[in-house]
Amino acid sequence: MIRLDKFLTNNTNLSRSESVKAIKAGRVKIEGLNKVLQDTKIDESSAVVFLDGQQVAYQKFVYLMLNKPLGVVSATNDTQHKTVLDLVPEQYSKHGLFPVGRLDKDTLGLVILTNNGQGAHKVLSPKNHVKKVYKYECADPLCEQDKQKIELGITLKDGYTTKPCKIKITTEKSGEITLTEGKYHEIKRLFGSVGNKITYLERICFGGITLDPKLNRGEFRPLNQQEIKIFE
Ligand code: URA
Repeated sequence: MIRLDKFLTNNTNLSRSESVKAIKAGRVKIEGLNKVLQDTKIDESSAVVFLDGQQVAYQKFVYLMLNKPLGVVSATNDTQHKTVLDLVPEQYSKHGLFPVGRLDKDTLGLVILTNNGQGAHKVLSPKNHVKKVYKYECADPLCEQDKQKIELGITLKDGYTTKPCKIKITTEKSGEITLTEGKYHEIKRLFGSVGNKITYLERICFGGITLDPKLNRGEFRPLNQQEIKIFE
């Protein structure tokens, strides 16, 4: 059960205070109830609620696709840097969103924000082998031997051996790399361990969800029904 004002805040564009105002102004109706108050408790999955005569659709979770720009950190708050949450308006961030996995401050591209903790855990679990595809550029040509070493898995300085991955070479200093895990600075460390250096990194795909080319850096859009499926 949830208070009506909270239900409206979660499922419409209204802020908490606007929801309270809308209820007081008589703009909100609940099927089967004569009296509607801000603290009226409803069962959010079954109550039929109308705002200005339009039924309010119950959304269990929020999912957004963000095109992360440079210099923004994948955290919910940071005292020094702009975070991915600073890029979405309050009508979304009020839902308790967090980024699904992390991109480095200097990595660009696809970040998914959600408030579905269980769903995020599922897609991040190495057991589920969810593929993440990154476009990369590196400082030196990547020779076939180094490509193969990276693909097979490398024991990094901290003793961790990376899972096999796939590299598709575009030019000698660029291509796409597909990982099924997400260790700290993994791609940079993989290239570093063969004496190379990543100079550009952009995530373009996460579990079959592709970064929407219509999104400029810093822009976002809700995931569609098809895209949400990986979290269910
Ligand atoms: N690997 C990295 O090194 N950095 C990222 O941001 C993502 C994967």
